[in-house]
Amino acid sequence: MTSAPDPDVAVRRMAAESLAGDDPTGWFERLYAAADDGAAVVPWDRGAPHPLLIDWLGRPDDARGQPRPAGTAVVVGCGPGFDAELLAGHGWTTTAFDVSASAVAAARRRFPDTTVRYVAADLFDPPRAWRQAFDLVVEIMTVQSLPVRLHQRATEAVAGFVAPNGTLLVVATARTGSTEPAGPTEGPPWPLTREEVEAFAVGGLTPVSVEQHDGTPPFQHWRAEFRR
Ligand SMILES: C[S@@+](CC[C@H](N)C(=O)[O-])C[C@H]1O[C@@H](n2cnc3c(N)ncnc32)[C@H](O)[C@@H]1O
Repeated sequence: MTSAPDPDVAVRRMAAESLAGDDPTGWFERLYAAADDGAAVVPWDRGAPHPLLIDWLGRPDDARGQPRPAGTAVVVGCGPGFDAELLAGHGWTTTAFDVSASAVAAARRRFPDTTVRYVAADLFDPPRAWRQAFDLVVEIMTVQSLPVRLHQRATEAVAGFVAPNGTLLVVATARTGSTEPAGPTEGPPWPLTREEVEAFAVGGLTPVSVEQHDGTPPFQHWRAEFRR
């Protein structure tokens, strides 16, 4: 009896080939292109916005005790686009970018009437105009999709998008003593330690909150907010 191929194995193979070739982001385009052809499944495509983003947007702004006033927003590593569409639906003027041109094209096809500006761009070489340009920056599981040696650079790049008085929201899988061994992890993903989450307080950002949300290990998450 033959069993269906495990989609996670194909994803890990693509990632391993990219990483071995010192191209830590190349596999994302290969994965999204293969998904377009029905030859792969994008494992993080939830078909919906992240629940921790939905919850956060529904809360009053702690500083003002009022609903959050919508302004400009950018979604980092937007992938399928559901988080960007949620923000746009809340009135945010939203830009969303991904290193994979196929991911961006798929998001545009999925949401043909969108007001979101979807852009193919690399976090490590973003348009200069995005520097401190957004009232809200949403980073969900992009930094953790990169090898640990790139986390600091990626974190600083994300923080650099936040405008004066702006907010950064980070959601990431948690790497804690209770869910992960203390030594180096073999990714992807490379979940974030508390120290790595706190490191988003860089270049003038200060932490507002760092929360750990329990789930069944290893599905514990950080949700952290920072302000410039
Ligand atoms: C684990 S997925 C998360 C996608 C989305 N944020 C979500 O929560 O569904 C990581 C995403 O980051 C994108 N990505 C990885 N490295 C990137 C980079 N250097 N610049 C822009 N996007 C990147 C990948 O293509 C992928 O869509």
